[in-house]
Amino acid sequence: MLPSRVTIVEVGPRDGLQNEAQPIPTGDKLAFIERLADAGLRFIEATSFVSPKRIPQLADAAEVAAKLPSRAGVTYSALVPNAKGLERAIEAKIPRIAVFTAASETFTQKNIGMSIEQSLDGFREVVAAARARGMTARGYVSTCFVCPYEGEVAPDRVRDVAASLLALGVDEVSLGDTIGAAAPRDVERVIERVAASVPREKIALHFHDTYGTALANVHAGLQLGIGTFDSSAGGLGGCPYAPGASGNLATEDLVYFLDRMGIWCGVDLRQIASASVAIEKVLGRSLPSKQLQRIKSTRA
Ligand code: HMG
Ligand code: MG
Repeated sequence: MLPSRVTIVEVGPRDGLQNEAQPIPTGDKLAFIERLADAGLRFIEATSFVSPKRIPQLADAAEVAAKLPSRAGVTYSALVPNAKGLERAIEAKIPRIAVFTAASETFTQKNIGMSIEQSLDGFREVVAAARARGMTARGYVSTCFVCPYEGEVAPDRVRDVAASLLALGVDEVSLGDTIGAAAPRDVERVIERVAASVPREKIALHFHDTYGTALANVHAGLQLGIGTFDSSAGGLGGCPYAPGASGNLATEDLVYFLDRMGIWCGVDLRQIASASVAIEKVLGRSLPSKQLQRIKSTRA
């Protein structure tokens, strides 16, 4: 039994644009976000309140947040790694934060300069303070399958970190295949383990598509009762601290798959493709989504 509807969390403006080499004007980011909202996406991760030295591409987070298009039913979120990030998110009136850690120590250290335990200790206060102000919070666990530095990651580690995030107050845990290496068998193993401690309706899956297995993994997730998937328009993305990782699963490819499977997601494929075409022009290169390329060739 597959779910009849699915929630897509669009991470292109954050996970996608954080990884681009060239500077992207704030206005182009905002136009991209506006097109994504108009395509029916209801959850859009707009930016990150992280150290601008670490992620210069998102140094304009406050400017982006200040001009986000107001759309009924659309929730914008932003990454927040610490108290300073929360302070900036509050100032920017972002309603939803995302704290982020990982299931492997080396990646956590390289990405946020702390151990997993230190990150969880810090998030406890950050999430409590956010919730006290009426904000909501999601938590990411990176490297849930394979770590670019440590190799295979034990599902028990993923369960422990996901359960800790839930216990400290996030309402959803997004399990990341940061380097896009997982296959459906891995997804089954990890979900079965995590679901022993985290209700399935609070689990989201975040696949990068480095090895071309992301959609197969979505299918595995659906079969396991997962109803929330992260993706990025055009297949933008990657993490600067995960060498070799390519973009996220493309939103167009996910939407086509869900439509064809008879699963409702409320997102218009052609409008997403239009958002991607516009950002392709800004970037000066083609994005990898198969559906995007197909739609472009039929338009041509
Ligand atoms: P740090 O550099 O390790 O050390 O930062 P620090 O805490 O001493 O801070 C250094 C400087 O940053 C200081 O400024 C701080 O004030 C400033 P200076 O004194 O040098 O001028 N600073 C900040 N500035 C703005 N906003 C802040 C902030 N915090 C400190 N919030 C820190 C630690 C965690 C901040 C840093 O390591 C960092 O920003 N890391 C972010 C890395 C990142 O964004 N990675 C990509 C996102 S994760 C991802 O893509 C994976 C995901 O998609 C899931 C998946 O695919 O697996 C979510
Ligand atoms: Mg990611």
